[in-house]
Amino acid sequence: MVKRNKWVAGNWKMNLDYSSALELTNNLVANLPGLNGTSVTLCVPAVYLDALKSIVNKNGLIQLAAQNCHSEDKGAFTGEISAAMLKSMDINQVVLGHSERREYFNESNKFLSEKVFKVLSHGLTPIFCCGEPLSVREENKQNEFVTNQLEESIFHLSAEEVAKVVFAYEPIWAIGTGRTASAEQAQEMHAVIRHFFEQKYGAAVAEKLIILYGGSVNASNAATLFSMPDVDGGLVGGASLQANDFLQIISAAANS
Ligand code: 13P
Repeated sequence: MVKRNKWVAGNWKMNLDYSSALELTNNLVANLPGLNGTSVTLCVPAVYLDALKSIVNKNGLIQLAAQNCHSEDKGAFTGEISAAMLKSMDINQVVLGHSERREYFNESNKFLSEKVFKVLSHGLTPIFCCGEPLSVREENKQNEFVTNQLEESIFHLSAEEVAKVVFAYEPIWAIGTGRTASAEQAQEMHAVIRHFFEQKYGAAVAEKLIILYGGSVNASNAATLFSMPDVDGGLVGGASLQANDFLQIISAAANS
């Protein structure tokens, strides 16, 4: 079996004012535990990327990601940012397809397929989110729902490109609700996702894919979630806004 290093990404969403963002990042850099190969990323509001870059560069152990970008390099898209802009700032990761983008900004699987392609073409790492709403889970159709999201947004990629994507399974009913998927539910879906990629791209690609779990990950449940064989870490919302909580989650990943 391939040993995959863990990943922990904090998704700040639209939270923290400027001075709080600086303070939190300084705190994390100063108190980071031994990582044991764990990757740590902060997905921050784009306006803070440049300032936070000079803080994380102090030890080079934390990466920064944008929370979204457009599928075009430039043009008349007021309010948007492009993968080309991120690349030019030496920002190498970007979240795509978060359920909040899908729901509030009508991002379709097709639009996301264009974004993923563009992000990869600039050599950036997409952190690609998928996950089902509660109504789909209640009908027990979550596997079909999530694999359809992946098929429509990812399957146009080559095996080499897919291998560069980090996936995040985030059941919508567990986001910001305090209601976490059980470790068994997370494992079950992650195994479904890995098997789906295996069928299309082969075992060598599938067994190396990083698949994060997101949805009310916190300092208390992280170790149990991360102990599951197909859960390679977490995409953390609320708990990433508190330095102590986020540091404990990073430790859980590093020790798992
Ligand atoms: P919470 O951890 O606040 O549930 O958010 C999860 C999430 O959406 C991360 O992208």
